[in-house]
Amino acid sequence: MIARRNLLILAAAVLAGPFISAAEAQEPFRVALILPMTGASQSTGRQIDAAVKLFMKEHGDTVAGRKVEVLLRDDAGVADTTRRLAQEAVVRDHVQIIAGFGLTPLAMSSAPIATQGKVPMVVMAAATSSIMAASPYIVRVSQVLPQPAVIAADWAAKNGLKSVVTLVSDYGPGYDAEKWFVERFKAAGGTVPESLRVPLANPDFAPFLQRVADAKPDALYVFVPAGFGSAFAKQFVERGLDKSGIKLIGTGDMTDDDLLNGMGDAMLGVVTAGPYSASHDSAMNKRFVADFKAGNGGMRPNFMAVFGYDGMQAIYKAIEKTGGKGDGLALVDAMKGLSFESPRGPVMIDAATRDVVLNIYMRKVERRDGELYNTEFETFSNVFDPAKPKP
Ligand code: PHB
Repeated sequence: MIARRNLLILAAAVLAGPFISAAEAQEPFRVALILPMTGASQSTGRQIDAAVKLFMKEHGDTVAGRKVEVLLRDDAGVADTTRRLAQEAVVRDHVQIIAGFGLTPLAMSSAPIATQGKVPMVVMAAATSSIMAASPYIVRVSQVLPQPAVIAADWAAKNGLKSVVTLVSDYGPGYDAEKWFVERFKAAGGTVPESLRVPLANPDFAPFLQRVADAKPDALYVFVPAGFGSAFAKQFVERGLDKSGIKLIGTGDMTDDDLLNGMGDAMLGVVTAGPYSASHDSAMNKRFVADFKAGNGGMRPNFMAVFGYDGMQAIYKAIEKTGGKGDGLALVDAMKGLSFESPRGPVMIDAATRDVVLNIYMRKVERRDGELYNTEFETFSNVFDPAKPKP
């Protein structure tokens, strides 16, 4: 039995070509998937984990003759824990790739581990522009906040909004979402009477919303990370802002598809710029949404699920291109310049920056078949991060 198994492994290795030895074919290709499965960002963990599982169900768990094994680790959204888990994955479990990273501080804490361990770090969620500078081993498949921010600003200026107050979570992606919106909107002649920053942990929006009510702008522009939109919407309604005539706009993170239905009719008409809607009209997305819901008790995929799915697309393609070899820099090189179709539309990994290039859609919350959706009404293709010089 054992001899026969070894023979099969040897045969697999020979078939896989000159790149891979029998010993390597025996060892699985390990990916540590480090996510907040508990805590305030648990929806991000749940969504990405489910999408990774769906991808592997569809595409199998063997690539270039090598079995792929995903080791799921829960960091509870605590940066010190992410760093420890990344370190253990590299040093003890000898993983070939670390992936996940639900929030910017979690990605930043782990970047030095990727550099020291020479292990690619596939960022599936965190979206602050500057993360890429933290390690040459980082590849990002998620989004970058300046991308939706400038497109939301252009839309606001073109649609007659003269004054907009901004309100963002007080950390990296919030600063990106604020800076790129404010600069672009002011350049187009708009005014920004106030820029408010709300603590990320246990946010109390009430005092900030009072200031919005007092300032009486044409619109309020909001960035809160995935999973926080419900808390914001609840206080927005409690303060009566939904009836104030102040229009609500933002990045798509606020009207996250996982939460949107529970946010209520006060969200109808809210306009956001974002990379993915569950109602995106493509054959690939229709199948993705149906299979995702079927495998997860009816849970609707949000943009985080799509980022996780695309992370696996990039990882599988890199394993294929490198013939199953686990060399860190070769895997990073293999991901540079990749382009593929995603449930959100076309996606590219820019070869020069290792960062994601994507479509940004303008969307409006509408009720369809009894459910709330972000209906896409305008597409901006091939959007680079405006915060980085275009190569
Ligand atoms: C981030 O922490 O970088 C982050 C998290 C969730 C989002 C956007 C950005 O929706």
